[in-house]
Amino acid sequence: MITFKGLVAGYGRAGDILRGVDFAVAEGSITCIVGPNGAGKSTVLKTCSGLLRPRKGQILLGSQDIGGLTPAAILRLGVVQVPQHHGLFPTLTVRENVQLGAYVNRRQRERNRARYEEIAQIFPLIAERANDRAASLSGGQRRTVEFARALMLNPGVVLLDEPSLGLDPKACRQLASSVKALNQQGVTVLIVEQNVRFGLSMADNGVVLEGGRVLHTSGAAELLADPDMGALFFGGTTRETQP
Ligand SMILES: Nc1ncnc2c1ncn2[C@@H]1O[C@H](COP(=O)(O)OP(=O)(O)OP(=O)(O)O)[C@@H](O)[C@H]1O
Ligand SMILES: [Mg+2]
Repeated sequence: MITFKGLVAGYGRAGDILRGVDFAVAEGSITCIVGPNGAGKSTVLKTCSGLLRPRKGQILLGSQDIGGLTPAAILRLGVVQVPQHHGLFPTLTVRENVQLGAYVNRRQRERNRARYEEIAQIFPLIAERANDRAASLSGGQRRTVEFARALMLNPGVVLLDEPSLGLDPKACRQLASSVKALNQQGVTVLIVEQNVRFGLSMADNGVVLEGGRVLHTSGAAELLADPDMGALFFGGTTRETQP
């Protein structure tokens, strides 16, 4: 569904951050990118959502190369990045916040109304708290509303950068069930997680990124059980890079 081929990207005049990234995200899967700070994980998501232009290589959505398209064009093709931290308008209600997800299609009122009703069924919280202001929600509940909003445009692919950041264990469980709910709707999910165990436990497949290159890809469960993962995340380096 999404294939990164020889992707090279970086910022301004500085050198390349991504130095030939190759991996595929299977249609309908949850794929989790893990790796140390500065590995280029967020940079992969930024090139995928159009915030950063690749210098070389391709990002294939099906058979179409979306590398270098504008964020708006990529959004129209059904690839949505869920924004973090400052996601919601605190003084608007939960319903209004979710409905804003279809702002670019705001003239299609009937379609948006129907879509909102579907989403309120997927996420019971939305229906229960529809008339409450977003400011009254907990951190985990807010994240659910952000997800719900991302679904208003009926995306095929959702990109999540560190969704568990700042959430306590209970909120993390809510988050995991929201991600699963998204995925069960047929949405392909590409997620970056600092919390490696949490990220991989939700995912079907794992990708280890280090120094702007893919070090390893495998099933998520397999990766979780891999002793080299411990070396990478707890010892700071991997066997291959040790002298
Ligand atoms: N806007 C930017 N301008 C210049 N350099 C940047 C910019 N954003 C990121 N970088 C650099 O690119 C490299 C990779 O950053 P990136 O944010 O992709 O890493 P990451 O794997 O997401 O790390 P983290 O786990 O800390 O979020 C870092 O060295 C960083 O300093
Ligand atoms: Mg990052």
